[in-house]
Amino acid sequence: MPIDFPQPMKSSQNDEAGYNAVHKRVLDLTGIDLDSYKRPQMLRRLDAIISRRQLNGLAQLASELKPGSELLQEFMERFTINVSECFRDKPRFEILANQIIPEALKRTQRVRLWSAGCSYGAEPYSISLIFQELHTAGCTITATDIDPKILAAARAGESFTANDLKNLPANLASKYFTHLPNGNYRVSDSLKPAITFKQHNLLSPPPDSNFDIVVCRNVTIYFTEEAKDRVTQYLVNALKPGGILFIGETETIHRPNRFGLSLRSTSFYERAA
Ligand SMILES: C[S@@+](CC[C@H](N)C(=O)[O-])C[C@H]1O[C@@H](n2cnc3c(N)ncnc32)[C@H](O)[C@@H]1O
Repeated sequence: MPIDFPQPMKSSQNDEAGYNAVHKRVLDLTGIDLDSYKRPQMLRRLDAIISRRQLNGLAQLASELKPGSELLQEFMERFTINVSECFRDKPRFEILANQIIPEALKRTQRVRLWSAGCSYGAEPYSISLIFQELHTAGCTITATDIDPKILAAARAGESFTANDLKNLPANLASKYFTHLPNGNYRVSDSLKPAITFKQHNLLSPPPDSNFDIVVCRNVTIYFTEEAKDRVTQYLVNALKPGGILFIGETETIHRPNRFGLSLRSTSFYERAA
């Protein structure tokens, strides 16, 4: 009997036809357009799946991506990098809590805030906590993400780890989080009513408008420059005149005046009134 030696894996880097096949399949199955994401990073993620599953390159990956399959689930998990934590980049959250939100509360009794790319909820729950600590019920938070599985985890609010809570003062951690027998932490129900979780792709027009504050952090780092600009324009369109856009610590908006924005302080931009 002939020996069935494993074939060398095709290099994904130059496999344009294979990439196009994956691109089309993912678009058909999920509505996600891979062309909006940086190609080298995307190929690294696809290669990791190919190697773990011992597939023979991108074309085979494309043909095996099927609705409801484990492979599609794995693709989504690797595609959506869900890393987050409460009060991520604490100094900026202090500015949000002590300057931006109190100023917004002077202009309106009910602050409308959008947490775009909210992952498992650490970001919107942190913001809901700020409003509770300010003793105001005056906020509605729309929290969106492209990944339905991570949104289910966000709604449940039970998958927080000790790392998620490391930026919280001990008294607030014990007030708003309960340690579970499995080692995770559950967020207090009191932080939930302010938040509505929804699935939304940031590469499509905003789910709502007239927000006082839009928080979109550590999401567009994976996008091409063109896609980043498109998303920035959508985020600005969702803001009220004078509203604030809050981005991640490693991100900047180049020539913000293109979008009618001006820099307020690091990570905070204001839409022209
Ligand atoms: C690294 S997490 C950032 C979470 C949080 N904003 C933070 O800074 O801690 C990035 C999130 O963006 C989501 N995401 C990626 N592409 C997206 C898109 N096109 N539309 C909406 N969300 C997207 C991912 O599912 C993931 O949950």
